[in-house]
Amino acid sequence: MKLNIAQNEQKISQLVADEIENLIKRKPDAVLGLATGSTPIPVYQELIRRHQAGRIDFSQVRTFNLDEYYGLDRSHDQSYYQFMQTHLFSHINIQEDNIHIPSGQPADVEAYCREYEAEMERAGGVDLQLLGIGHNGHIGFNEPAKELHPGTHLVRLKPTTIEANARFFTSIEQVPTQAITMGMQNILKAKRILLLATGRDKAEIIHKLIHTGITTDIPASFLKLHDNVGIFVDEEAGSLVASCATS
Ligand code: PGA
Repeated sequence: MKLNIAQNEQKISQLVADEIENLIKRKPDAVLGLATGSTPIPVYQELIRRHQAGRIDFSQVRTFNLDEYYGLDRSHDQSYYQFMQTHLFSHINIQEDNIHIPSGQPADVEAYCREYEAEMERAGGVDLQLLGIGHNGHIGFNEPAKELHPGTHLVRLKPTTIEANARFFTSIEQVPTQAITMGMQNILKAKRILLLATGRDKAEIIHKLIHTGITTDIPASFLKLHDNVGIFVDEEAGSLVASCATS
């Protein structure tokens, strides 16, 4: 893992958008793995700016999102489908058929999860995966647990995750308690992975991630098994990390 400490989230969004722009120039039908949450929003804003400036053409780009709340219809204003429409897709020239976000209401969860993975395989796999990180070290909705799942699966959310996400709902009771998420192997198969963290409240988990070994208590620590991971943090999220480079 290569740790990059940038001055602020604007700097991070430029660095990450540079990678995405270069990838799409090199491979116009690149497969992007996308994330929701507050952290990637400035990256999406930067991608929109570059698209509007004529620098990035998304017409052939394919995307696969990490996760979706289980039980929410995609028209629900807090579904990740709506999140992606609002923050990225409705502002760029991506084709609807090229967008993949797990359904929150599959008829047969197991069959649906296998099909989502098969679709990723048919697309040739993810070229570049964007990740945020939960305060508890989750990536996607792979929560700390005794065992982690390799494949796409239905997961029960941790109370801390439900609390963290309650800010988007009218009350904590409204927050779904389960989600469909890509599993650890799905994420680790991406050719390049960029994990982003911003703000002082992510400093502890970034410190733990950098200084602890591989443990299911911190699902993000499995990224240490991948040889092409960039971690981008701002000065606040990086404030507890002693050195600027790690392996
Ligand atoms: P956040 O969420 O970007 O809203 O902090 C990150 C995550 O839970 O993966």
